[in-house]
Amino acid sequence: MTTDAPEVVGEIAALRERLGAARAAGARIALVPTMGALHDGHLALVDRARELADVVVVSIFVNPLQFGAGEDLDRYPRTLDADVAALASRGVDLVFAPTAREMYPRGDVSTRITAGPVGDRYEGSSRPGHFDGMLTVVAKLLHIAMPDVALFGRKDAQQVFLVERMVADLDVPTVIEVVETVREDDGLALSSRNRFLDEPHRRAALALSEALRAASDAAAEGLAEALAEAAAAFGDHDDAELDYFVIVDPATLLPVADDFRGEALALVAARVGGTRLIDNAPLTL
Ligand code: PAF
Repeated sequence: MTTDAPEVVGEIAALRERLGAARAAGARIALVPTMGALHDGHLALVDRARELADVVVVSIFVNPLQFGAGEDLDRYPRTLDADVAALASRGVDLVFAPTAREMYPRGDVSTRITAGPVGDRYEGSSRPGHFDGMLTVVAKLLHIAMPDVALFGRKDAQQVFLVERMVADLDVPTVIEVVETVREDDGLALSSRNRFLDEPHRRAALALSEALRAASDAAAEGLAEALAEAAAAFGDHDDAELDYFVIVDPATLLPVADDFRGEALALVAARVGGTRLIDNAPLTL
């Protein structure tokens, strides 16, 4: 484990060379894929990676393929120097920070991973093509780094579901490790996009976690009651515009039936000011 600044590598060949040597020496490799603008949620992934592997690689790449026209690709925060400084104190060995040209030398790809029907729901419904682009870059990163384990945050529940499906469907020999969402004291899930929120919008953003808590508290009374309580809690925040609040079966990510009883997952997305936020929580109906 290192405590120095990680080596920053921009080229695929250079990363492969470093990791090939480590692998040949018997090292176990962990990959933490990120788009940078790191916060404590990312650092929790890194800390878990450190426990699981000898060599920890963090990729920092704002992947154009997963942003649609009119989304926030251009304004997505890019803070590489601060990110590398934050990772230095966590014993990260390598930061892979390629350019878009390095990842997509032909400008676009003609081969994409297709997320399937679940990829068209929820986030996919508001962001067509998002999950195909996300899975395509994750597949590329897994091929490039060939890690023993790759770590993802539970806040992006649909992303986690689809990455796990891709790895299973395509027999990718990487273990996917999911790390719990890190929250502020008042419940707001950490997100790189939280930095866009001014103070009134920061308060409005609590609509998501409060709706999730209300649904969870009412879950024992059944689906209709859980959804009604979530809607009431969300409605307390005028500046938050609900995109969806849905309760799904974690095994399929499909909405549960009205009489469903058992472990379920609530997913929520909203726009707060110009910022799109998502969150989720398990509950028992
Ligand atoms: O969750 C993210 O930050 C991105 O979707 C990921 C997994 C790094 C792929 O670009």
